[in-house]
Amino acid sequence: MTKIKATNITWHEGHVGREERETLLEQKGALVWTTGLSGSGKSTIAYTLEHALVQRGHLAYVLDGDNIRHGLNKNLGFSAEDRTENIRRIGEVGKLFVDTGVLTVTAFISPYREDRAIARETVGEGNFFEVFCDTPLEVCEERDPKGLYKKARAGEIKGFTGIDDPYEAPEKPELVIDTSKVSPQEAAVQICEMLEKAGKISALGE
Ligand code: ADX
Repeated sequence: MTKIKATNITWHEGHVGREERETLLEQKGALVWTTGLSGSGKSTIAYTLEHALVQRGHLAYVLDGDNIRHGLNKNLGFSAEDRTENIRRIGEVGKLFVDTGVLTVTAFISPYREDRAIARETVGEGNFFEVFCDTPLEVCEERDPKGLYKKARAGEIKGFTGIDDPYEAPEKPELVIDTSKVSPQEAAVQICEMLEKAGKISALGE
């Protein structure tokens, strides 16, 4: 549990609500939460989806683990505690983005089930779409786009997810994608269809 330090603070309501912003944008806010091993295709799918949504005339934005760790979360490492805080903050940021009406896509390993459950609760059921990039470890390791699996195997990185740190697969994700079988474009199509069914975006041609 996060210790609450702030006292004497008051919540202010604005004059404009989420619905008004959504009407303006002609879409509904949602958070597509990708999860999976490093190299499982989360970022590639996230950026492909963002591009596809923008091409369809929607406002979309990606929050990517490696990028966020350059700024907002630069004070966090990869201990269990820091990963939990990383995900807690992204859940909170995701909640704000969804309130703006933006179609938000996150790409974080988010290895712990409990942390993802908290993010889901923060963002709210109906706004949160968990997409499990269920790509086999062997495929992620073969890809090794950043050379990190090689380093982890050599013992140069300790606590690397999938090697000597756990990854807890989702039990009931909204969507499962094995990127060794499905292209990023096809994954984006599947996610768009899911968002259409949920009434977040209108179907093409409507
Ligand atoms: S998370 O576990 O806290 O969700 P996050 O998605 O932000 O992780 O960052 C993962 C990225 O950090 C990986 O894709 C990889 O590039 C890099 N990284 C560096 N060290 C580690 C590590 N020990 N375990 C996993 N990823 C790491």
